[in-house]
Amino acid sequence: MQEIFDKANTILKQIEAEQPADAAGLEQFRIKYIGTKGIIKDLFGAMGQVPNERKKEYGQLMNVLKQTAETKFDNLKDSFGDSKAKSSESADLTAPGFTTDFGGRHPISIVKNKMIEIFSRLGFVVAEGPEIEDDWHNFTALGTPKDHPARDMQDTFYISEDKNTLLRTHTSSVQIRMMESQKPPLRILMPGRVYRNETISARAHCTFHQLEGLYIDEGVSFADLKQTMFYFVREMFGQNTEIRFRPSFFPFTEPSAEVDVSCFICNSKGCPVCKYSGWVEIGGCGMVDPVVLENCKLDPKKYSGYAFGMGIERSTMLKFQINDLRLFFENDVRFLKQFKNAK
Ligand code: DAH
Repeated sequence: MQEIFDKANTILKQIEAEQPADAAGLEQFRIKYIGTKGIIKDLFGAMGQVPNERKKEYGQLMNVLKQTAETKFDNLKDSFGDSKAKSSESADLTAPGFTTDFGGRHPISIVKNKMIEIFSRLGFVVAEGPEIEDDWHNFTALGTPKDHPARDMQDTFYISEDKNTLLRTHTSSVQIRMMESQKPPLRILMPGRVYRNETISARAHCTFHQLEGLYIDEGVSFADLKQTMFYFVREMFGQNTEIRFRPSFFPFTEPSAEVDVSCFICNSKGCPVCKYSGWVEIGGCGMVDPVVLENCKLDPKKYSGYAFGMGIERSTMLKFQINDLRLFFENDVRFLKQFKNAK
């Protein structure tokens, strides 16, 4: 029985003699003496073998042992400053937490999603087509045969010698795929990346995004197109936005128009964004040319429809007042971070 007291006293001397040299040593010390499987716990457990008349004395010895070990640990802990050594402390549940930094959407995606959301309220559904296209879908079926002057409007990246395979220059190619594969009524939105062989500058890039729309049914008129565009720009740019159709030419629509919106940055008073005209262009549109319907084996006497195409970069620049297109493609987090909470 005396052995139990002797053992405890030996341990006490040992604890006093211990000199942990660093945080790792201190952790060893903690595990050896204070830890849940440590020596002190064992010694406490031996209490049962101590006769009743000496239990008090043993208990006091145990407390001295425990306190000596803990004080030594606490004193050294601060000087070593190791988080591992500190882990024996209970956590401060009132301390503010660490927040996880989520990524945000790219500004192009934000605007694209908003555009899709607005048109989907009118019943448009999203469809996609390939970025590597053939001549038929990108040009010929859209009323632009090989020698047609309108092909000069777009400098194309051809990826086959015979010039039959290319990177699509516009999302209008997807219109053809949709009309070939589905029966009217069609109400389709086609967002996507397009490619043009252009010199990269603040206003032009060799790759950008378009949103194409197509509506084919019986008895569709230009008035439907106009109202759709009107609804879209007001939802997109604000309820006071005005709209203007300028006569234009596209090989796949007749009549064709370019759509301008009143400059919501300066309220049409004139600013660098609208080049002091009060209007900014957002895209092209028109009534689908009967030849295009025929190319897709749809009867132009039965069906008519409208189509539109807009650059997504353009609307994004207007909406967020960004003056250099190249920023969209550089993936600079300092730029992208600014859109984290944008809608
Ligand atoms: N594809 C044309 C372009 O890239 C834009 C366009 C104009 C699309 C008129 C259309 C449209 O659907 O009807 O410049």
